[in-house]
Amino acid sequence: MAPQLAYIGLGNMGKGMTKNLAQKAALSSPILLYNRTQSKAAAHAESIGGPSKAKAVSSIADAVSASDIIFICVGDDAAVENIVDTALSSVPDIKGKLLVDMSTIHPDTTRKLNTQIRARGASFVSCPVFGVPAMAEAGLLICVLAGHKNDVTKILPYTIGVMARANIDLTYDDDVNATQDIGKASTFKLIGNSFILSFVEQLGEGLTLAEKAGVGIDPLKQWMELMFPGPLPKYVERMQTGDYYKREYPLFPVDLARKDLRHVTDIAKQSGMQMKSLEVVDEYLRDVKEHSGERGDIAGMYGAIRKASGLKFENDE
Ligand SMILES: NC(=O)c1ccc[n+]([C@@H]2O[C@H](COP(=O)([O-])OP(=O)(O)OC[C@H]3O[C@@H](n4cnc5c(N)ncnc54)[C@H](OP(=O)(O)O)[C@@H]3O)[C@@H](O)[C@H]2O)c1
Repeated sequence: MAPQLAYIGLGNMGKGMTKNLAQKAALSSPILLYNRTQSKAAAHAESIGGPSKAKAVSSIADAVSASDIIFICVGDDAAVENIVDTALSSVPDIKGKLLVDMSTIHPDTTRKLNTQIRARGASFVSCPVFGVPAMAEAGLLICVLAGHKNDVTKILPYTIGVMARANIDLTYDDDVNATQDIGKASTFKLIGNSFILSFVEQLGEGLTLAEKAGVGIDPLKQWMELMFPGPLPKYVERMQTGDYYKREYPLFPVDLARKDLRHVTDIAKQSGMQMKSLEVVDEYLRDVKEHSGERGDIAGMYGAIRKASGLKFENDE
């Protein structure tokens, strides 16, 4: 019998990941889905195959008590902590279960959750992911894994070939105490995101300058595709087509980007250094939030840079 799976958090990322778990993983019974806004769970369960593949549940306790492995992917640290607190306080027989956090959170939060969960005889794996929502949907994420090898082994059947195209392994053997740090995956993920934040800011500046200096965006896009194929030309496209301000629901919400920036800035401070490039990103993300509110997207930095350069935020002229 395959383990019973549950998944908590059906945002941009959770939707794609659960689609792949329901449709590609070897399951003996439908995956259980929980989301704070419950209507989303029912609709999503239906959209990924209906009752034979996925079943919505109406509480965290229902998801956790009926499952062996519980994946969590929600917005920020407070949300993950709240879910784990609820699970620990409402499920008396949590011993032996495996909780897997796939959110991007501060490594100190990951370490704290690990201590709380293990104190109750359950296990914990940290598995933040790289990849935009379209990659989650396509099952092409990169998973960063930290935790005891024995626990991580239990989730490998759901990573490569199901949710992911590759894993980055930061796990440790059960008997090596000195090097154990479950916070490493979160630290790694946040360092990775610092690149993304800076890349997108740099793209926004380059596009604005190409436009203002009379070169135009098309040759820049062509060059980007030749030199750096992959996600960067996609961001150029999102900027050029106005997707950075038009979409109702952001792909990489500004609030999540600002959370990542705060975390990585704090890790740098704890490590005795400063990431000066992120101070510039911070200013533009603040402008995006001010201009677009919760609908703001990381790609909206292009709009903020345009505005700071005397153009309109929206490139619709
Ligand atoms: N978007 C990306 O490109 C990307 C890529 C890699 C990693 N990540 C990380 O993955 C995580 C999820 O991102 P996302 O893009 O899926 O975010 P999202 O679309 O904004 O969805 C957030 C999810 O978290 C839930 N949530 C938020 N606050 C909650 C709370 N206090 N209690 C319970 N549930 C709560 C939301 O529930 P409701 O539906 O009820 O609001 C929703 O299911 C974040 O940590 C993010 O940093 C994102």
